Amino acid sequence: MPRRRETLGVVPPPLVDLFPAPLVDRLLDLRRHLHQYPELSRQEEATADRLAQELERLEPVAVERAAGTGVVARIAGRDRGAPVVALRGDIDALPIDEATGLDYTSLNAGVMHACGHDVHATWAVGAAALLSAQPAAGDVLIVLQPAEEIAWGAQAILASGALDGVTAIFGAHVDRRFTVGEVVVEEGPMNAASDGFRITLRGEGAHGARPHEGTDPVIGAAALIMQLQTLVSRRLEPGTPGVLTIGHVQAGVAGNVIPESARLLGTLRATTARSREQLRDWLREMVHAVAAVHRLDAELEFLDHTPPIVNPPRETQWVRQPALELLGGQRLCTLPEVNMGGEDFAYYLEKIPGCFFRVGARESGGAVISAHSPHFFAADGAIFVGAALLAAAARRASADLASAL
Ligand code: NI
Repeated sequence: MPRRRETLGVVPPPLVDLFPAPLVDRLLDLRRHLHQYPELSRQEEATADRLAQELERLEPVAVERAAGTGVVARIAGRDRGAPVVALRGDIDALPIDEATGLDYTSLNAGVMHACGHDVHATWAVGAAALLSAQPAAGDVLIVLQPAEEIAWGAQAILASGALDGVTAIFGAHVDRRFTVGEVVVEEGPMNAASDGFRITLRGEGAHGARPHEGTDPVIGAAALIMQLQTLVSRRLEPGTPGVLTIGHVQAGVAGNVIPESARLLGTLRATTARSREQLRDWLREMVHAVAAVHRLDAELEFLDHTPPIVNPPRETQWVRQPALELLGGQRLCTLPEVNMGGEDFAYYLEKIPGCFFRVGARESGGAVISAHSPHFFAADGAIFVGAALLAAAARRASADLASAL
């Protein structure tokens, strides 16, 4: 079948032979459809239906729903008893008004695929197609995960039991700092741990003109906000990135009233399990020490949290080797800095060894646009890089794991 004119040249040259024309057209259609009809976290009903349909066309062993709006398909391996590996694509969108001007711009007002999860879902389907055409040693689970943006989906997929017995897992994210065909597949920290926290300081209310009759939590909160900045600047080893941000401060109702309490909301980012533990311990210590100096009661609660992503050596090689072979060494880039954003793929890596990599998504001549911007989109070519590398990593991991039995 001849390739449609608009899809000519979309597949990066080194990968052209991997993708027959009908598959290219199908993946581009799927991506455009998902982009036009984005759905928020835990509401990905139509998205999940469409993805399940696409996967069923590949005649997999099974296609099942998991974690509500998630879809898990099992692609048969050559030996059904061999170790099982998993490939994950996240599928949810964000509450943002799209401003890309793309001809397949969002038709769901106020909702947008501003983080490229339309491409992640599509490349997972692409990898499924490649693996059903040329199977891995063992079965491969294609995991279309909901609700990444609220750090809910990975935990829910794990809790569903859908990944029980899986021996390796791979996933990736689009990144417009790199052009299509460039990838980052590196050992070590890739995404920061993210810990939300709430601090409540309790004193004793008084008249603003008579502070000596109360205990002022506002002064304590102000001192604490400043002191907390020394945890990263003075206590954390300077070569280890970390961030502590207080993003919400709330206290009092009037200018002449000393309130009873003050509340701070913040986020802590760390790149290793050790520095995360250190920062959490130091935060606890500082909150109680500063509160004591100001004669306040303090309560510290940790809220949402995502572990860090730290790629281990063996699993990283399972992606890096195919990347070298398929794309060539000069297309393997290094991360200019560790990404201090959280990524819920980290939950899988707490339970299952694996690797998370980044896929260049800037078209030639295009601008660097950060994810979660209303102008963000991933170039089409990224679909084929992601699909090819995920399928190749699954085959490599599966072969190595099977031969080690
Ligand atoms: Ni994302």
